[in-house]
Amino acid sequence: MPQLDSGPRHTPRFTLRPFRRRDTAAVYDAVKESLPELRKWLPWAAGNYTRPTAQHYVRDSISAWNEGRAWDFAIRRPEDPGRHVGNVSIWFTSTPNLVGEIGYWVRTSETGRSVCTEATARALQIAFEELRLHRVALRIAVGNLGSERVAEKLGFRFEGTLREEVKVGHEWLDHTVWGLLEREWWVERERYREQAWA
Ligand SMILES: CC(C)(COP(=O)(O)OP(=O)(O)OC[C@H]1O[C@@H](n2cnc3c(N)ncnc32)[C@H](O)[C@@H]1OP(=O)(O)O)[C@@H](O)C(=O)NCCC(=O)NCCS
Repeated sequence: MPQLDSGPRHTPRFTLRPFRRRDTAAVYDAVKESLPELRKWLPWAAGNYTRPTAQHYVRDSISAWNEGRAWDFAIRRPEDPGRHVGNVSIWFTSTPNLVGEIGYWVRTSETGRSVCTEATARALQIAFEELRLHRVALRIAVGNLGSERVAEKLGFRFEGTLREEVKVGHEWLDHTVWGLLEREWWVERERYREQAWA
């Protein structure tokens, strides 16, 4: 499986780094604050979310990184490194085809400030330049207009709709699929710089 360097990566405003065991409390605080928003779209947030849930996530994230299953990055501000701002993750959906996916969430008190766009721009650089992916997809539940806007800002192309692909709480939601190809990334990355996201 592909491996990634575990050192921190930087954006103009944030640090992206792998999770550590002592992150549990900070993750729990951020998720707890954001549950009303997260629950609308993310199945893992729809159930009971406790400190052990956060601890399980952090432990699994560390194992996933070491096994090359997925790379979860904690988004932090260098001047306030103990406060969890959000997550951005990359994983392969097909290793032989060099195809992967990205997912993200941002704590509610930090939304609307381009945190997600800036962090995901950096994650895309990791995906294309370090993991050498050919294609990165984003799956967004229909109705999640904030996330669709992130996809549009980053230059993802809308590709279609997967019907009733995810069950969130008791409801089946459709997913839209968005894709960015490596050759498109090399063009978009210049625009990210102009926007000060990279
Ligand atoms: C979706 C989410 C990640 C966006 O994070 P963020 O840091 O606020 O994103 P950004 O600020 O980079 O960009 C959000 C854009 O969506 C816009 N937006 C937000 N809510 C919107 C809404 N209801 N309708 C239309 N546009 C909306 C913002 O204005 C902004 O666009 P702009 O920069 O052109 O003004 C965050 O709201 C979140 O974590 N939501 C809950 C979990 C989730 O949905 N995760 C993604 C699953 S695919």
